[in-house]
Amino acid sequence: MPSSGKIEIFYTAFREISNVIHSSTRADEVLELIVWKVTETLAAKGALLRILNLETERFELNAAYGLSDAYLSKGPVTRQSIITEVYKQKSYVIIEDVLKDPRIQYPREAYQEGIRMVLDLPLVFRDNIAGLLRVYFPESRPFEEDELDFAVALAQQCACAIDKARLIEEQQARYNQLALHTEKLSALGRMAAGIAHEINNPLAGVLLYSSNLSKKIPDDSPLKEGMEIIIRETQRCKIIIQELLEFARDREPKKAKADIHPIIDRAVSMLENEFRLRRIDLQKSYSKKIHTCMLDENQLQQVFVNLLLNAAHAIDQQGTIEIRTRVDPAGHRMFIEVQDDGCGIPPENLNKIFEPFFSTKKNGSGLGLAVSYGIVQNHRGELTVESQPDKGTCFTITLPMRQ
Ligand SMILES: Nc1ncnc2c1ncn2[C@@H]1O[C@H](COP(=O)(O)OP(=O)(O)OP(=O)(O)O)[C@@H](O)[C@H]1O
Ligand SMILES: [Mg+2]
Repeated sequence: MPSSGKIEIFYTAFREISNVIHSSTRADEVLELIVWKVTETLAAKGALLRILNLETERFELNAAYGLSDAYLSKGPVTRQSIITEVYKQKSYVIIEDVLKDPRIQYPREAYQEGIRMVLDLPLVFRDNIAGLLRVYFPESRPFEEDELDFAVALAQQCACAIDKARLIEEQQARYNQLALHTEKLSALGRMAAGIAHEINNPLAGVLLYSSNLSKKIPDDSPLKEGMEIIIRETQRCKIIIQELLEFARDREPKKAKADIHPIIDRAVSMLENEFRLRRIDLQKSYSKKIHTCMLDENQLQQVFVNLLLNAAHAIDQQGTIEIRTRVDPAGHRMFIEVQDDGCGIPPENLNKIFEPFFSTKKNGSGLGLAVSYGIVQNHRGELTVESQPDKGTCFTITLPMRQ
């Protein structure tokens, strides 16, 4: 065939493959086309494409053309048996005699399949061999330079297609996880709102009647103590229900111009007794670069009370809580860190603590962090955590600092 005719065939095949790579999100469709086109344009017997599975260290079959099922069932192939130093240095390797080359793992079967010669094209991305395009020929023959150029360019396209498919797969997996998480949270929120609503009224009745009864019971009666417990525990339930309703209502913050530091100070002063009882040393370091911005003072105070109370619970007896504020170099955001040297959070719990009702405490409702997370988000901010078991925990609130 005259050389210009051949180049035209190569060019057409190449363009067809490029089109599919750009328009399709399905890697298998692209790879099927590649093995078919490479077989056709190089007048080969067939071709197959194996991609390296990083977990098993084996080349697994991803697409094949022109080979019998019996031959294909011979894989997967180990990495060591195929990839020698030659492959890392070269963009292609020609195996002239399938019966004598150690890189052919099943020489006898290959010969029976009618294969005499093999052209290997390693698929390289980011300097690693991630796959192999193997083209099989029914007889030994010399290759022309433009044939090899075409095959190498095709292998590069192939590597790009696999890379793109992997990226799409990763993004899809991340998206699915996020969607599941959001759905779970909103279902929990709906359920919480329903339960809270139903329980609120009977609870008010229990509280009213038990308070009335308690007033009628003389102080020295043995019933008095039990009655006080009923009242106390019912009040506790009411607080939990209120928190729940607050959480489910997801109310918009009522923002006004305010300084963050007095809000933190108010939360600290509410908990001073708690800190004294647990012998907690509280240290503050406030940045002078923070200016007033639009905040809902009540909501943010609630966030700091939640974080500080959690820190105190984590310390139990004697420790340090540090509150630090700082701004980013551009002055666009402020960071408020609440750090304790308490028990820390085990890694397996780190992604659960912001979920409503997750609590490791005997009397915890598991709503403190869920509510705080919602409030910070409503301020267009972020609430993140870093923790090491037995060393301590640091919660960071990031808030935008536009005036
Ligand atoms: N500073 C901290 N150190 C260690 N663990 C923490 C810390 N803050 C939160 N946690 C963990 O996260 C869980 C959830 O916290 P969250 O404030 O949402 O609920 P809670 O404190 O258990 O109950 P409550 O609703 O009464 O606040 C806690 O039970 C605890 O296991
Ligand atoms: Mg809490």
